[in-house]
Amino acid sequence: MSHSKHELGGDKQSSTRGGNISSRIPGFYKLGVRERLTALRDLAGLSDAEVGLLHDGCLSVEQANHMVENVVGTYALPLGLGLNFQVNGRDYLVPMCVEEPSVIAAASNAARMVREGGGFVAEADPPLMIAQVQLYDVPDTTAGTQAILAEKAALMCACNDAQPSLVRRGGGTRDIEVRTLEPSTAEDAGMLVVHLIVDCCDAMGANLVNTVAEAVAPRLAALAGGCFGLRILSNLADRRCVRVRCRVPVDVLRSERFDGVAVRDGIVLASRFAELDPYRAATHNKGIMNGIDPVVLATGNDWRGVEAGAHAFAARSGVYRPLAIWRAGSDGMLLGQIELPMAIGTVGGTLRVHPGARLGLQISGVKSAQELGMVMASVGLASNLAALRALAAEGIQQGHMSLHARSVAVAAGASGALVDIVAAELSKLGDIRKERAEQILSQLRESAAY
Ligand code: MEV
Repeated sequence: MSHSKHELGGDKQSSTRGGNISSRIPGFYKLGVRERLTALRDLAGLSDAEVGLLHDGCLSVEQANHMVENVVGTYALPLGLGLNFQVNGRDYLVPMCVEEPSVIAAASNAARMVREGGGFVAEADPPLMIAQVQLYDVPDTTAGTQAILAEKAALMCACNDAQPSLVRRGGGTRDIEVRTLEPSTAEDAGMLVVHLIVDCCDAMGANLVNTVAEAVAPRLAALAGGCFGLRILSNLADRRCVRVRCRVPVDVLRSERFDGVAVRDGIVLASRFAELDPYRAATHNKGIMNGIDPVVLATGNDWRGVEAGAHAFAARSGVYRPLAIWRAGSDGMLLGQIELPMAIGTVGGTLRVHPGARLGLQISGVKSAQELGMVMASVGLASNLAALRALAAEGIQQGHMSLHARSVAVAAGASGALVDIVAAELSKLGDIRKERAEQILSQLRESAAY
């Protein structure tokens, strides 16, 4: 098996549940949790035991105790479904694990808009990770570089000998590069870094590439006539990028007070702001990671690694820039695109030990790490669209306030259908305080309607 840069075909059916499902489920948010679980069970082909696991929490203390040290309990976060996602013609139910209100609703809403323009179009690089071997005290960096590159073929064999099972799965070391690090002090002189470029197949690959780096570091140091230092992957996984594009018809962008063209132009202006100002770019990218991190978490992947890669990639030109940009197309549509490294896996790591992560992956229906990366980046682009649309139109607080109103209603004692009724009244009054909620609640109860 070789991994080419690939685009998924619309007819590809890669779910264990078989067949393409629709991720467009109108009214899903209005269902109770049990009803949503039943719908999910049928759509994703889950067993009753798996549904029970989702409902009751996915990780026992015993399981947690095998994952990390000094365990004293587990810590739960809400798991929701991102809906309406269509990527390369295929629908995905996207598991999202997140504490921030509105992230899942906003991404799902934006995905519905993108759907109107044909869905997300995505491509992924082959799953190449970089392992770094630091060499120091190299007497002649040019000669050291040449000596290593002259032995490239033999070194690649040695790398592959360190990971025979990866080679059997179709992966392995694909290239070796040597960089001289420019010294900034006299002590830095003679420092080389060797990059081992390893195809990790569907694994995230941290352990794989670290093993490879440790195996060949002594030989690299000997060839360069120096010493080896660190042997570790780089989280700037820029050989493993994902690119996603989308087109949004202006009509679907319109808001309560603004027409679609005005919202589109506001989004383009917001994009330019982020392109020109790192202070804004950081917040713009935070909005993107609002969508990506929950999927990374729900599928048992390393969100610190993905975050590190995203921000290093955003700063690769020397200036911190937005990961996604927006323009108006010649046909008037809003065009969005995102590119970032996606060092994630669909085998190994946390997936071995965390039943919730396995369920998350099953719900997503993806078959490969490349496919999962494309879905994640699509969710990031959707989150960015949702945030910019809100910011460019009514402002972000309106949406946040209605969610805040719901939690205030609950804090005041509302439950069931009353939560939405009290929250709607609070929003209408523009007074979202607990005392006001209690007042509304008691009036409703007195009127005997509830
Ligand atoms: C809040 O979690 C994310 C936003 O600040 C993103 C943005 O400003 O683009 C709304």
